[in-house]
Formats: sequence, structure tokens, C-alpha cells
Amino acid sequence: MKTLRETIAWAEENKVAIGHFNFSDSNQLWAIFNAAREVNVPVVVGLSGGERNFFGVEQAVAMVHSLRDTYDFPIYINGDHTYKVEDVKHAIDAGFDSVIYDSTKDGHEHNVANTKECVEYARNCGRDVLIEAEMGNIGQSSSMWDEAPAAVDDDVLTDPEMLKRFVAETGVDLIAPAVGNLHGMSKDGRNPELNIDRIKVLREEGGIPMVLHGGSGISDADFKSAIEAGVCCVHINTEIRKAYQNGIKEFVNANPDEIAPYRFLKQGQDDMQEVVKKRLELFNGM
Ligand code: G3H
Ligand code: ZN
Repeated sequence: MKTLRETIAWAEENKVAIGHFNFSDSNQLWAIFNAAREVNVPVVVGLSGGERNFFGVEQAVAMVHSLRDTYDFPIYINGDHTYKVEDVKHAIDAGFDSVIYDSTKDGHEHNVANTKECVEYARNCGRDVLIEAEMGNIGQSSSMWDEAPAAVDDDVLTDPEMLKRFVAETGVDLIAPAVGNLHGMSKDGRNPELNIDRIKVLREEGGIPMVLHGGSGISDADFKSAIEAGVCCVHINTEIRKAYQNGIKEFVNANPDEIAPYRFLKQGQDDMQEVVKKRLELFNGM
């Protein structure tokens, strides 16, 4: 089985992107896994702080490893948006394939020093664990907004020169830039456009694989151009949270007396699986 680093290299060579989907319970994990098996492409599943606390750090790893081993299928686990170095270390110790140290808000020097510490810890852990860092402002929460901003100001986009220095100083493996992307999704499902030229320049200047966060609400055309320009992994959360919740809501409203969880959760799981499948087909050029 390829490591995550090898899978990312494969995606870059083939101009496709690996889908990264968040989960916080086993039903969502099955939905993502079943979709990836249907499409037959590698997949990354991720948990941010709240999601990790809900599932359990070691328990999430155990289930992902069990799926990987039982089905001999390339599924990888990422510690999404992690704000403390000690939590990055915890995720590495627990067996995560990659971890995002996210401290853009704490200032540049703090970000450089702590990212470096995370990279060193990963290099010395005895496995090939990737460290990702975020650069620029892409907002925080995977939730629904009443309205999307018309566009993202150029001055919050990642600066190519700063990125180049940051990569050289920290030795980080992956970068999550601000290129017009925002966490969350407007209720009409349309987020601002991406700055494709900036993606190209950042890939060249940064020299390392780039991960597009805040994927929910981005148009198919923008996704295709972003992947062509150098994005090799795309994060989706809000869209699948919404599909899961809607499916459960619909079923429970129609069947208020059904109390078997494996029945009242199933429609949410199926609806979420469908969304993941469509995204995987798009990201993999199908
Ligand atoms: O790390 C998680 C993602 O960036 C999800 O963003 O909720 O806008 O899809 P999203
Ligand atoms: Zn994100």
C-alpha cells in the first residue's frame, strides 16, 4: 500500500486531487469509505479538534486502520486544524498519517517556530507522517452562512514570497493557502471564486504540494482549474455535514416512531455518501 506521501505524489503527477472529508462518527466514516470504494480512488478522512474529541483520537485511528486493513484499501487519516503543538504530537503518537498545525492567527514568528517543532517531531516518530501548515486567512468554521461575501480581498491571499520563506524555514510537507477559499458555505451553495493565477504562482514559489481547504460551495469549474493549476488535495466538510443532517431530519420527520439508530441514521449516511461520491468523481477527472 502506498504511503500518503506517495499517494500525493501520484495525484500531482496525474493532475488529480485526493478528496479529504471530515467525520465525527462511524456512520460518516462508512459513508466516506463506501463512496471511495465505489469510485475506487484513494481518500483522506480528517477530524478537527471538536470532531476528534467526539470520536476519540485513538478510536478514530483504530477504525480507519481496520477499514484499511480489512479491505486492503488506501484510506488515510489526517488530524485536521490542530491549534496546539501538544495535540499535533498526540495525533502523531496515536497513528495519524498527517496533521495540520494551524496557527496563522498567532503571528508569523510563532507559526514558524511551532511548525518547525511539529515537523521535527514527525521526522523522529519512526513513521512517515506529513505536517501541513496554513498560511493566510480562510476563516474557521464549517458552517452555513446566510450570504457569501462577493469576493475575497487580495490582501488576505497567501503571499508567494512569504510562502517560499516559510517552507524553507520550517521544512513543512504540505501547505494550505488562502486563494479565495473560505471555510463554510453560503445557503445558496455559492462561494466566492478562486484566484487560479495565485494558485499557480504559489505552487511554483512554494515548491510543495498544495491543499485546498474550504471546498464546500466552490464551483465545479473552479475545482477543475484549481487542480490543473496545482492543487492535489481538496477538503470538504460543510456540504457533507448538511447532507447527513438533512437525510436524518427527513427520515425522522417522516417516521417519528422509528427508534432504531441503524434505521433513522441510514438516510443521512446514504445522502452523505452520494455527495462524497460526486466530489471524488470530479476531483479524479471522471
Ligand atoms: O478542513 C476542513 C475543510 O477545509 C472544510 O471546509 O467546510 O468549507 O468544506 P468546508
Ligand atoms: Zn480546513
